[in-house]
Amino acid sequence: MTRRTIVIAIDGPAASGKSSTAQMVAEKLGYLHIDSGSLYRAATAAALRTRKDATGWTEHDVLSAARAIELLPARTSFYPALDGHGIEDEIRGDDVTRHVSRVAQMPRVREWVNAKVRAAAADRNVVVDGRDMGTVVFPDADLKIFLTADSRERAARRLRQRGTPTSEQMIVDETRRIDERDARDARQTIQAADAVVIDTTSLTQLEQVERIVTLSDRHKEEASR
Ligand code: CDP
Repeated sequence: MTRRTIVIAIDGPAASGKSSTAQMVAEKLGYLHIDSGSLYRAATAAALRTRKDATGWTEHDVLSAARAIELLPARTSFYPALDGHGIEDEIRGDDVTRHVSRVAQMPRVREWVNAKVRAAAADRNVVVDGRDMGTVVFPDADLKIFLTADSRERAARRLRQRGTPTSEQMIVDETRRIDERDARDARQTIQAADAVVIDTTSLTQLEQVERIVTLSDRHKEEASR
């Protein structure tokens, strides 16, 4: 059956501003935002709650811990809940960030995330962000964007987002952490052949959002002709 709802897929490497951009685009268009990374993070948080030592985690351990996770709709975006409670702070913590790439390499965990994201998008217009949304999950997305930015700029943004004072050494360390995570995630970070690439290194957040909204308007116009 052909899909009747609209999907805008935004992919890109770590800290490229996918989630905040996707959220703002969704708000402007009146769509709902789905952050697929939040599900990988939630599965990792659930596994950490069950067993703190991640060295022996199997795919089965992670999936059974993830059974308690639901993806719930709020006013402008979906959010993962564990045993019925939102876990936003927990999933953004360093412990989860350190282990999430390993969890994201487990094929059945990827299937679990993809099924949840597709179900959420089944009956409403969405902006989804991640690394393989425009390729594996929604190869027929209406609009595909691939966001990139210099890794030092991404590191500086992530630190600014935290709102604490930043030194040159902190930027250097964060750039290294981002480069390492990019390397771990390289296999699943896939640019679709028909994606519009936006290098955001010298763009403001608002400019990125405007570009995507303009592309979406153009797509709608073309589709209605
Ligand atoms: O925002 P940031 O780029 O730091 O990461 P995220 O979107 O919250 O995703 C966290 C992790 O989930 C990534 O480092 C990937 O390992 C994984 N991920 C993935 O493999 N595929 C996706 N579609 C989304 C996230």
